[in-house]
Amino acid sequence: MPQPVNVVVLLSGTGSNLQALIDSIEATPGHPARVRAVISNRADALGLQRARDAGIDTAVLDHKAYADREAFDRALVALIDGFGADLVVLAGFMRILSVMFVRHYAGRLLNIHPSLLPRYKGLDTHQRALDAGDREHGCSVHFVTEELDGGPLVVQAVVPVAEGDDASRLAARVHAQEHQIYPLAVRWFAEGRLSLGEQGAILDGQLLGASGRRIPA
Ligand code: GRF
Repeated sequence: MPQPVNVVVLLSGTGSNLQALIDSIEATPGHPARVRAVISNRADALGLQRARDAGIDTAVLDHKAYADREAFDRALVALIDGFGADLVVLAGFMRILSVMFVRHYAGRLLNIHPSLLPRYKGLDTHQRALDAGDREHGCSVHFVTEELDGGPLVVQAVVPVAEGDDASRLAARVHAQEHQIYPLAVRWFAEGRLSLGEQGAILDGQLLGASGRRIPA
């Protein structure tokens, strides 16, 4: 049996994306990845309980206990590397990461963002899409680089905006798509099909375009 690809998930909240990843790995015989550990900066994150329920190691690293971002990130790197991480998955981790951290995990750090990047970096994405009158919204998985929400795209799912949508209804449909595309991207990575090249994300030897692989509505 080849060694599993060790995934370490970082989160601060609900962890529904973690749950989707756990479920997809469990549902796939011979899946090449395993969630090796879940780390949170908040002891009360529901995602930690989901991990415990699945028998996954957890750790809490409280950023308030560190003098500055660099010190916290150094401790975080030590913790993650202690778990032998091959891939680090950000799943609602509400911390801005230092350049040192991002460089340390270059090419093995993924994030999910609730918009069709490059539109709506940052917060409040669903309301912003509604305010702009967009007909299409969605979510994106990308490699993390030093630019916030700006790294090369891996996969996007498109969610049509419905007549009379409000932010919470739209968010729920986007979330459901997040639960499809994040496990997909992790699986591609674990299968050795996905990597980060000089020009962008590469899937099956092909450079992915500006939107990554696009899953239509
Ligand atoms: C998701 O909306 C994701 O796009 C964003 O953080 C949220 C995490 O949700 N990065 P959950 O904790 O996985 O439910």
